[in-house]
Amino acid sequence: MDSSHIQFCLDKSKIDLNQILQLLQLGAFWAKSRSREKMEIAITNSNPVVTVWDNERIIGFARATSDGVYRAGIWDVVIHPDYRGWGLGRKLVETVLTHPDVNRVERVYLTTTNQQSFYERIGFEPNSSTTMVLYNHSPLESIYQQELKVKAEK
Ligand SMILES: CC(C)(COP(=O)(O)OP(=O)(O)OC[C@H]1O[C@@H](n2cnc3c(N)ncnc32)[C@H](O)[C@@H]1OP(=O)(O)O)[C@@H](O)C(=O)NCCC(=O)NCCS
Repeated sequence: MDSSHIQFCLDKSKIDLNQILQLLQLGAFWAKSRSREKMEIAITNSNPVVTVWDNERIIGFARATSDGVYRAGIWDVVIHPDYRGWGLGRKLVETVLTHPDVNRVERVYLTTTNQQSFYERIGFEPNSSTTMVLYNHSPLESIYQQELKVKAEK
């Protein structure tokens, strides 16, 4: 398949949120019900954010968060089902990894349920020993809000 017309874009201002939400709904089981408002916040706070375009259509998406030196995380990697197997997913992840915000950090983390083989081909290794997760149902938010209230009262 000739994918030479497919373009990779790092410019967040070009992003069409409706297309991103549709793509996630179609191809990303963990992100099927993301809201427009929260995705907008996530994109604003992520760098780089990479979109893959077939003319005016977004057919791939990935984003990262990074401290620039020690740690980065890659999130929401997805290629439209019709475009898989062409090497675009690899190029998408490599575009994130080679971005200046990510390419100098000591460790790049990601979570994946069933795409380990895909990431291993790119150089990632399984890391079962060091990973934990907090499913945050907002207790920290309320502590933070209390602190803000105390500060505001002073
Ligand atoms: C995972 C995903 C991004 C891969 O995109 P893709 O464009 O099909 O991948 P590529 O064509 O670039 O494949 C790159 C390499 O990985 C291999 N690969 C791709 N998907 C694979 C899979 N599911 N299992 C094993 N190998 C896989 C390819 O054979 C290729 O190998 P090669 O370089 O040795 O030839 C895509 O399948 C997808 O969007 N899946 C649904 C969303 C998802 O699960 N994302 C990851 C969440 S963490």
